[in-house]
Amino acid sequence: MSSKLGILFVCLGNICRSPTAESVFASKVEAAGLSDQLRIDSCGTQNYHPGKPPDGRSTVVAAQRGYRLDQLRARVLRPDDFETFDYILAMDKSNLRDVLGICPSTFRDKIRLFLSFASDLGEEEVPDPYFGDGSGFDTVLDLIEAASDGLIQHLRDEGKCA
Ligand code: 4NP
Repeated sequence: MSSKLGILFVCLGNICRSPTAESVFASKVEAAGLSDQLRIDSCGTQNYHPGKPPDGRSTVVAAQRGYRLDQLRARVLRPDDFETFDYILAMDKSNLRDVLGICPSTFRDKIRLFLSFASDLGEEEVPDPYFGDGSGFDTVLDLIEAASDGLIQHLRDEGKCA
């Protein structure tokens, strides 16, 4: 198993929110000089788009803020993820329920809502932008940027990375 601390972002389809979280968090981790200490990935609770790149709307909005998504590919949550990742972060409460529903009891403590790392926002969920009019994608970025900063601070506070 990897000696790096594993962070896994989870949404429904792994083409909008969780790949955005993966890229934004990885970019902030790199800027903080912590890339060599962390293993970062994303997945979906459903296998709707296996092997597909992120939704073009997510890719465009992320690129406007300097984050690349086009190299990422969708995959479904696997049983071994519960063992190999240390933080399993759900985008909304439905994702959280689905993940908890299949998680072995020994690993349940690894699972939480991603926005719990941005409690100042007063939001608990990253809303699913997939079926909306497109305006949701900027909101997704705002929430994910804030929670990524909060997660890095948390990892430092907890002594999980230097
Ligand atoms: P995501 O968004 O969970 O943020 O990737 C969705 C992507 C695809 C679908 C639903 C949500 N879908 O129904 O295909």
